[in-house]
Amino acid sequence: MTDADRELLERADAVAKRAYAPYSEFFVGAAVRTRDGRVFEGVNVENAAYPLGICAEKAALAKAVSEGVRPGEVEVLAVTASPCGGCRQWFHEFGIERIVYRRADGNIAVATAAQLLPDTFELAP
Ligand code: THU
Repeated sequence: MTDADRELLERADAVAKRAYAPYSEFFVGAAVRTRDGRVFEGVNVENAAYPLGICAEKAALAKAVSEGVRPGEVEVLAVTASPCGGCRQWFHEFGIERIVYRRADGNIAVATAAQLLPDTFELAP
């Protein structure tokens, strides 16, 4: 993990305060940095119809993609929680080089998308 990765996790920590999580009260922040140095942040956004909520990682990635970022262009994603299974499939989709996250015990972990989700689903054979 680089100093820049640590700073990205600090940005994720800071943005977590803006999470909309009135149901779980579990505030998550995420930040992605592209290979050319752009940063996009996201938070979890919940809904009274519970399954409609979205995770912080997806929010950050959707923001990046809507600004033109494509698979292979994200170097690192930092998130304040251990990523859920669905987000791990998103990391695979976007070929994220490494993911920096805070485990439930408070320790910081770094992993590749493949380490977080081996033997992934592929639409094409
Ligand atoms: N959550 C995330 O934002 N990211 C994850 O990877 C784990 C879970 C959110 C979803 C929900 O708003 C809250 O945490 C509790 O599950």
